[in-house]
Amino acid sequence: MGTVPRILVFFIVSSLVLAWLLLANTPRKSSLRFDPTFDPRKSWGAYTPFFPVHKYAPPPAGCQVIQVNILQRHGARFPTSGASINIVSAVQKLKNADAYTHPSMQFMSNFVYTLGTNDLVPFGARQSSDAGAITFKRYAHLFDANNIPFVRASSGTRVVDSATNWTEGFAAASHGVYRPPLSVILSEEGNDTLESHMCPNAGSSDPQTDEWLNVYAPAITTRLNSWAPGAKLTDHETHALISLCAFHTAALGNPTTPSPVCGLFTPSDFAGFDYSADLDKYYHTGYGASLGRVQGVGYANELLARLTGTPVRDNTQTNRTLDADPTTFPLNRTLYADFSHDNAMIACMSAIGLFRQPEALSTVEPDPQRTWHTHAMVPFSGRMVVEKLNCDETEFVRILVNDALQPLEFCGTGTGICTLEAFVQSQSYAQSDGDGDWDRCFR
Ligand SMILES: *[C@@H]1O[C@H](CO)[C@@H](O)[C@H](O)[C@H]1NC(C)=O
Ligand SMILES: *[C@@H]1O[C@H](CO)[C@@H](O)[C@H](O)[C@H]1NC(C)=O
Ligand SMILES: *[C@@H]1O[C@H](CO)[C@@H](O)[C@H](O)[C@H]1NC(C)=O
Ligand SMILES: *[C@@H]1O[C@H](CO)[C@@H](O)[C@H](O)[C@H]1NC(C)=O
Repeated sequence: MGTVPRILVFFIVSSLVLAWLLLANTPRKSSLRFDPTFDPRKSWGAYTPFFPVHKYAPPPAGCQVIQVNILQRHGARFPTSGASINIVSAVQKLKNADAYTHPSMQFMSNFVYTLGTNDLVPFGARQSSDAGAITFKRYAHLFDANNIPFVRASSGTRVVDSATNWTEGFAAASHGVYRPPLSVILSEEGNDTLESHMCPNAGSSDPQTDEWLNVYAPAITTRLNSWAPGAKLTDHETHALISLCAFHTAALGNPTTPSPVCGLFTPSDFAGFDYSADLDKYYHTGYGASLGRVQGVGYANELLARLTGTPVRDNTQTNRTLDADPTTFPLNRTLYADFSHDNAMIACMSAIGLFRQPEALSTVEPDPQRTWHTHAMVPFSGRMVVEKLNCDETEFVRILVNDALQPLEFCGTGTGICTLEAFVQSQSYAQSDGDGDWDRCFR
């Protein structure tokens, strides 16, 4: 194909994507009931790029933030090698189709799949560095020459890269005055509170996500196969193609310019995909798994140690050698930043008691009232921030997840703040090493 037609194709694809974006912003009728604020670009489950779920609310009048604990997911990445298998086979099937009978599918004739696996993409590195800069600006009063953030990361390459990009962003925002090092890398082969890999009896969420796949995907698969006769996509490949919209957009580098792959799908399709991620997290390391939240107990106990300034007491995932040494687990800093993975963070949030649902999530009918939304909990570069406050001599705790203040109904009146004392008392699940669940990981 010559240069001129190629430019034409580019314009057609760009117009289609633009049309999709415009349409995406107008509410439509669909088979799923949407939140009125539904935005397909924020509905890619765990592959959604970070966005502030609410505007950050400063602490109440008369209160000062005196300590901050950040638990943050790595930034946007390529698909994992496991997830790539269905993506690659879906793309290959579409490329081998007999014809493309719908304009949204035409881009496939020129589409070349070039994504890597597992690693952070440049946009993901930028997200991490932006987060470091925001942290410096938001909490500037906490730092001085003797008191800079204490940073740890799980040893996965994308996690380490996110941590170091975060420290770069932090240092740049301070005009080079504060340069926090990455002090501890926790091996994913060993005791690691920032990864969920130490509970051999923990199950998977495949049964639940497969049930939902059978509900939401068949109509989409039928439509895609009619747009690309001969492709014979399966429902799992359809699901993988929706994920490719998110991954390719992240790889292209700017979430406001979506991949042409996104043009294959309607808001309703994205809502179905998004709910699959809710089920995946809920039934893998969340409340829906009997050995889910126990995998967050080690981190919760480290958090309690920092909040109370007392040594870690834990018999689960912690590395006792590291946590007993003030050079690798200091207790006198004002800001701690830990870099981790989505499943581990879901376990930590659940161990603490956040996002508890009145009923287990249904695998056939999403409850529009649910507060469990993976895209708002662990998007790429998502973060849970535990603030310790001093208000008139009494210490309090607030928790923000992607800037949304959590109600903390388990230790207070549900208005987003608890006394430190009540918060510590509410953490009996962590303090008891998971109430017998940790032992059940091995028995
Ligand atoms: C924290 O304690 C260590 C010794 O364990 C000390 O070297 C360091 O200066 C202390 N930092 C602050 C901010 O007090
Ligand atoms: C930021 O992340 C990228 C990977 O996307 C990595 O190559 C680079 O070394 C990181 N930068 C810093 C300063 O750590
Ligand atoms: C604990 O941390 C030390 C220091 O990094 C390391 O040598 C050791 O292998 C770790 N042990 C486990 C079980 O992770
Ligand atoms: C690692 O965790 C296991 C299981 O809790 C524990 O038996 C072991 O002592 C831990 N090792 C270290 C170095 O903390």
